[in-house]
This record gives sequence, C-alpha cells and structure tokens, in this order.
Amino acid sequence: MDATSNRVSTDPRADGLRPPGRLHVRPARAVLCFWLIVSCVLALTAALTLWNARSRQVDSIERNLSALSLILSEQTARAFQSVDLILQGTVERLHQEEVWTRRDGSHVGAINAILNARMHGAKQVRSLFIVGEDGRVAYSALGSPVGIFVGDRDYVVAQRNGTVDGAFIGLRVRNRVDGAWSIFVSRRLEGEDGRYLGVVVASVPVNYFDELYRSITPDDSASIALFKRDGVPLYTEYMSSELLEELTGDREMWRATERDPPQILHRTHGSEPRIVALRDVDGFPLMATISVSVSTSLSAWNDQAMFTAGWVVGVIVLLGLGAFALARELRREEGLEQSLRESQARLQGTISSAMDAIVTIDENQRIVLFNPAAEKLFGCSAADALGTPLERFIPERYRFGHRSHIDKFSESGQTARIKRARADIVARRVTGEEVIVDASISQLNVAGKKLFTAILRDITMRLEHEAELRRLNRQLREFSASLQSVREEERTRIARELHDDLGQQLSGLKLGLSSIRARLRKDCPDLEERVVTVQGQIDMAISSVRRLGTELRPLMLDDLGLFPAVGWLIDDVAQKSGLLIDADLDDEVPLEISDEASSALFRILQESLTNVVRHAEARHVRVALKVDCERLQLRVADDGKGIRLEEHGRPHGSFGLIGIRERVWMLGGEVYITSEIGRGTTVEVVVPMSRPVTEEVQA
Ligand SMILES: Nc1ncnc2c1ncn2[C@@H]1O[C@H](COP(=O)(O)OP(=O)(O)OP(=O)(O)O)[C@@H](O)[C@H]1O
Ligand SMILES: [Mg+2]
Repeated sequence: MDATSNRVSTDPRADGLRPPGRLHVRPARAVLCFWLIVSCVLALTAALTLWNARSRQVDSIERNLSALSLILSEQTARAFQSVDLILQGTVERLHQEEVWTRRDGSHVGAINAILNARMHGAKQVRSLFIVGEDGRVAYSALGSPVGIFVGDRDYVVAQRNGTVDGAFIGLRVRNRVDGAWSIFVSRRLEGEDGRYLGVVVASVPVNYFDELYRSITPDDSASIALFKRDGVPLYTEYMSSELLEELTGDREMWRATERDPPQILHRTHGSEPRIVALRDVDGFPLMATISVSVSTSLSAWNDQAMFTAGWVVGVIVLLGLGAFALARELRREEGLEQSLRESQARLQGTISSAMDAIVTIDENQRIVLFNPAAEKLFGCSAADALGTPLERFIPERYRFGHRSHIDKFSESGQTARIKRARADIVARRVTGEEVIVDASISQLNVAGKKLFTAILRDITMRLEHEAELRRLNRQLREFSASLQSVREEERTRIARELHDDLGQQLSGLKLGLSSIRARLRKDCPDLEERVVTVQGQIDMAISSVRRLGTELRPLMLDDLGLFPAVGWLIDDVAQKSGLLIDADLDDEVPLEISDEASSALFRILQESLTNVVRHAEARHVRVALKVDCERLQLRVADDGKGIRLEEHGRPHGSFGLIGIRERVWMLGGEVYITSEIGRGTTVEVVVPMSRPVTEEVQA
C-alpha cells in the first residue's frame, strides 16, 4: 500500500496493531492480579493479627502459670512447714519431758502420749513415730507397728549420718498394707551431748496434696508435680507418666532450676505443645511444677482464629468471585475490541484493495474517505481530496441536480440506492476529463451524523464494448436473415428450374417417345418394348424432379399461398411418418402476409414436424394455424417424450430451434417452446400480420 492509501482511515488502531514501545497490561489480568494482591494482604494482615493475639494469649498463660506456680510453691512450703512444726514440737516435748532419763518404764506411755497429742488434728500427717538408735520403730502414735526395722530408709540414714540440717524429706514410699503412697519427713533426736538417739518421723499421705492442689489447677489439661531438687518425683498425681518421664529426663529443665524462679519452659510432648512453670519450694529442697496444654489454653484463641480465618476466606472468595466476573466481562469486552480492530483492519484492507472507487462524504458533502481506486478514477491523491467538497468531481451542469438528489436520498431514509449506468451519471476528473460511472450510494448514521458512501465504477469502456457487441450481434442477425432469404430464393429458383425447365423437357421427351412408339408398334415391335421401358424411366425421372423440387420449396407456397402449402406439408409428413396429425387451419380467412413471412412460417412448421418425427416418439400431433386481424398464430403440439433440459438449446450441431427463433425475431414475433417430460412438446409462434419496424432492424 502506498503512502496516500494510508489516508483511507483516520483511526490509528485500524491496522489491528498496538503502538510500539508501550507496555500493554490487559485489564482482566490486572483485575486478577489486584485481587491476588488484596487477598495476600488480607490473609497476611489476618495472620499477623492472629499471631499477635496468640502471642499475647501465650504471655497471659505464662503470667498465669507463674502466679499459679507461686501459689503452688507457697502451699507446698506451708504443708511441709506444718509437718516440720509437728516434728519440731515433738522433739521439743520429748526434751522437755526428759523421757529419755526415766528408768521406771513410764517413758513409753509418756512418749506415746506426746506423739498422739502432736498428731491430733493434723490431717496432713498420717502417722508419727520414733525410730530408735538400732533402726527399729521404737514408738508410734495411733498404735502403728513397733519393732519394724527401718534403719536403711533414706530419712533415717540421712539423719543418722548428720548429712542434713533440720527436716529431711524422704522418697515417697508405698504402704505394704493398703498400697497408699506416703512421703516420710524426719528430724533427728539427739541427747544433750549431741549423741544420736534416733529420728522422729511423720508420714504425709500423698493424696493430701490432691486436695491441696485441686483449687490451683486452672483446667483439665493442667498437670502439677512435686520433685526433689535432684529430679526425683514426689507427687505426680495430675501428671501423665509420659510427661513425667520427659520432665525427669529433661536436663535443661533441671539446670534451669538453678536460676532464679520462676522458670517458664515450652515443651512439646508428642504432638502436644505444653507450657511448664517451675518454682522452688521455699525452705525445702523441692521443686513444684505446673504445666498446661497450649492447645487447651488457647481454645478461645483457636475459636477466634477459626472465625477470623473463615471470615477472611469468605471475603477473599467473595472478592475472587467478583474479580473473576469482572475479569470475564473485561475479557469479553477485550475480545469484542479485538474483533472490532480486526474487522476495521479487514474493512480498511477491503476498501484499499477494492477495484471500485469508494468515496464517503459528510452532511456538508465534504470528502471524508477516498480510497486508492478513487485516486485512480479521479486522478487525485487522497491527501488532496480529503476535506474538500465533492462537487469538484461533478461536472458543473450536474452539480445542482446532484445536490438535490443527495438531499432527497437523505430525507427518504433509504439505506442504499443503486443508480444504474446512465449517460447522465458523469464524473469529472481533476483534469476536467469526464467519465461515465456506474454508481451505488448508501447512507449511514454515525454518532448522529450522516455519512453518504458512493461506490463508483468507470464504465466508459464497458459501455463501448456493449455497444460494439450489440452492433456485431445485429450484423450477425442481419447476415443470418439475408442468408435465409438468399437460401430460400435459391431454393425457389432451383425448384422452378426443375419444374419448369427439366420437368418440361422430360415431359416433351416422353411425348416424343410416345409418337415413336406408335410408329414402331407396326414396323418394329421389338423396339417398341424398349421404348416402353425408356418411357417408364422418364416417368421416374419426372417424379424425382417433382419430389426434389417440392422438397426444396413447394411451389404451391408461392403459387397458392401458405394454407395450401401447410395442408400439403401435413399430408406429406403424415403419409411418410405414419403420424396422426390433426390440422386446425383458419383457411377461410383471407391471408395477407408477405412471401418472406409465409415462407418463414412454412419453414418453422416444417422444422417443428421434422423434430416431432425425429425426436418426439409421438403418436399424435395437433397443428393449428390461426389468424386474427393483427396476428398469426402457429401451434404444433405433440404427445411425445418431451425435451430434456440438457437437450434443449444444445450448443453443437442443433440449429433447428435456433433457426425458428431467428426467423420469428426477423418477423418481429414471439416464440414459446414448452415441454413436459413424457407429456409432449408445444412450439407456439405468434407473428404480427404486418411486420413492425424494430429499432434494431431500422438501425
Ligand atoms: N418435439 C420434440 N420432442 C422431443 N424432443 C425434441 C423435440 N423438438 C426438439 N427436440 C429436442 O431438442 C433438440 C434440439 O432440436 P433442434 O431442432 O434444435 O435440433 P436437431 O433437431 O437435433 O437438429 P437440426 O439442427 O437438424 O434441427 C433435439 O436434438 C431434440 O433432442
Ligand atoms: Mg431439428
């Protein structure tokens, strides 16, 4: 496409291409990206908020546990202090009563009374007894068995060896009788000189701590345990054996006890994370621990997290649905825009490559579109034509008419109108030369403004060719007509020659032979026989000459007229072919037609009947020759097989029907050939009695 052809369209996107060097972001994709970013931000914000809430919750649990561990530690300390007070009180009373110095045997009762009195009302002490120097139970409150050897127990060994100052808390021991667990707390008994006399021991039932700790446990997941500082468990009622095992083997935890209390540790037992608070029991070599399950403690947070996550997911899904719907709509619009661009590009291509000139004008008849073919037709570039009035391309004498035509067309509301090629549709090149154009015009409403588009084709050449063709056709027809008439004249002349000359001579010959024969009959009878034979041959020659003459042209056509000739032809055909021919001839009406017309009609009938004999396979034929004052009508109808479509008007070797048409055309008449397969064919010819002088013939 050359530079000027680009001016066909003013839309820069019409070529379907995007401006180069610019990043093109598809709106649908942008919407989805935006949704993704918003979703991520939303999810991240929700996750951070929840994580903060969880951290705060965990902090609160830790603070709570720390406070509970303090209570736990204080209550434990108080429990052991009260036991120790009982032991201290017992030791003091024993010294005050000086029971050791009595030698009258009353010391047994006194000691038991002291033990019973000390135990009275102390529910944390299950039994109180004194172990003698020999390691056996010497005295016991509540009548506990006396004499049993317990000298190897840790609470006796530690006091006897003096490795402990004050109360000693021993390992928990299971009672052989009732199976209940007890913790033994002992204090050393010594004489005034410091000599070891034995130990006072209080057994503390482990289940006492159940009651003590019950109010401290915050929830079902909480576990409380009491350890000796070396990690040996004393009380583990609320703690699972797995956790206990884990805690006793936890080196880091026990190292942590050496630092300042409380220690808060996070441990995962199995898949369950727990928080453990660890605290010294003041005044005793004990550690109290309390732990809670993180998931149980965070159940409120879990509920809130689930709710928030559900809400966030819901919002993301809703936003997603909206974004997808919007993206779909945008993609659909994008597709429409793309196909619009493509169709614009196609339209521009079509307009540019059109062989016909396309010119669009606005309401003010100013040119807004001028394609390359228009440039060629008017000899003017699009750059020069665009924006200028259309009138410059219309010869001055047509301008006013053209303007009013356009106005009428605009008011008519017709969308398209075709102006047939006429001499007065004349366009003007910029050089002033005039060209005849075939034009079609259409109107279109774009954004409330009317546009008129004309498609123009230079038909000067075509008109010249058509005129030449018509002239040649006319010449051909005239030539054909003159051939027909020459042929007919020639046939007539030969027929006449045959009839008048050769026929007469043969008849004369025959007459001469008759007189010779009469003479020979007497003188030479042998020769008479030969003359008879020759006479017979002359008769045959005469009839051949007659037949030839009639076939060439029946002389009765010229001598007697059309009707007798037609009658003879029908009889002749019927006789030769054996067809049943009905003749309906208006032979009473005087016929005044030219020789040319009567011989044409005779030849038409002859061709029609020949066709019936040759092709129709008919049994019955009706021939009608009707006359009224103006027209003469010849009709030949058979009941044969009819003309097949492919046979009708065969291009090669069949000229009979064409000849009929030509003859009728020369007479200025009309021919109708109707045929139905299996039902027969009708050839109908109507000619005017007096031949009209047609324009073409005249020309
Ligand atoms: N009456 C008829 N019945 C059936 N078929 C016919 C009849 N008249 C014409 N036809 C068919 O139409 C064709 C054209 O006829 P047309 O007279 O033009 O040519 P033709 O008879 O074949 O040759 P010719 O040039 O010698 O006349 C025939 O070949 C024949 O098949
Ligand atoms: Mg024929």
